[in-house]
Amino acid sequence: MGEATEHVSVLVREVCRALTPVFSRTGAGVLVDATVGLGGHVLALLESIAQAACAPPRLVVGFDRDPDALAIARSRLGAVLGARALVLIDGPFSGLAAQLDEVLAAHAGDGAEVVAVLADLGVSSLQLDRGARGFSWRVDAPLDMRMDPRRGRSAADVLGDIDGGALTRILRELGEEPEAPRIAAAIVRARPRTTFALAEVVAAAMSAPARRKLGARVHPATRTFQALRIHVNDELGELDALLAAAPDRLARGGRLGIISFHSLEDRRVKQRFATLSSPPPMPAHVPLREHERPRPAFAIPPEFRGGVTAADDELAHNPRARSARLRVLERV
Ligand SMILES: C[S@@+](CC[C@H](N)C(=O)[O-])C[C@H]1O[C@@H](n2cnc3c(N)ncnc32)[C@H](O)[C@@H]1O
Repeated sequence: MGEATEHVSVLVREVCRALTPVFSRTGAGVLVDATVGLGGHVLALLESIAQAACAPPRLVVGFDRDPDALAIARSRLGAVLGARALVLIDGPFSGLAAQLDEVLAAHAGDGAEVVAVLADLGVSSLQLDRGARGFSWRVDAPLDMRMDPRRGRSAADVLGDIDGGALTRILRELGEEPEAPRIAAAIVRARPRTTFALAEVVAAAMSAPARRKLGARVHPATRTFQALRIHVNDELGELDALLAAAPDRLARGGRLGIISFHSLEDRRVKQRFATLSSPPPMPAHVPLREHERPRPAFAIPPEFRGGVTAADDELAHNPRARSARLRVLERV
């Protein structure tokens, strides 16, 4: 299998259902993919937009902080869009607020409007399957886990000097690991520097009842690896920055779609979307009739209330889709 097809995009049909109509309504707007990865969602969207006989995006802006992913996206998307309609930004999507205006001014032309923003959070199969990146307990490798291997501290460096209390908090808050204190104590004693060493330390530290509860199919180190990865890449801080900046960048009728893979992310997306789509609070002493009340600037399209998850046919061929949930917000 070639490297460009290693990652199977999740919820493709649902993403196309959510974002294609935005192009039919507003014409040649700008599409921003905050996690362009290998470009799978963008390619599917371009096809869906063409099938719906809509104008293609005038510009696609893709962010990714993984240089390997960006190189693949550049060749796959460049072949379809041409260099002039594609801007790829090598960096975190928390830079969206600061960078987007400049990119639009330089590349999108007058009157350009962002009509769709997509974020497909977390890691790609490319990152998980390339053992050398240190994301997975399945392949022995240095414990790195950085999506951008050029910046920040690797997981091994973090574990090299962290104290037990701080590590317990990370495992509890980011991994929802019930056995956080004993696992953290074992890790701090061993200070592992490879994926196999960490997996072994965690498996040995976990109590027998906790292991039984996980069942045979889940590796005891699953939650520890998740927690460390989220910490090393500041994934929740990144998501908060995106949730703060992206809605205001949308043109009227534009949509923001976010795919999350665990409850920590989904809770944040759900709460932010709920706040933005609720009427602004009014002081109790201001008497207003129903039609005088200020309307929220955003809405959750009815067909996406509660978010959407993968259908059975997708679950059958893509295990990553099991925990994926797409939530959609529209500027009204
Ligand atoms: C699940 S993959 C996206 C796959 C893509 N939607 C596709 O269909 O090919 C997530 C990608 O987002 C990138 N990523 C995750 N968090 C990021 C962040 N805060 N800033 C920029 N890129 C990020 C990862 O490096 C990874 O390539």
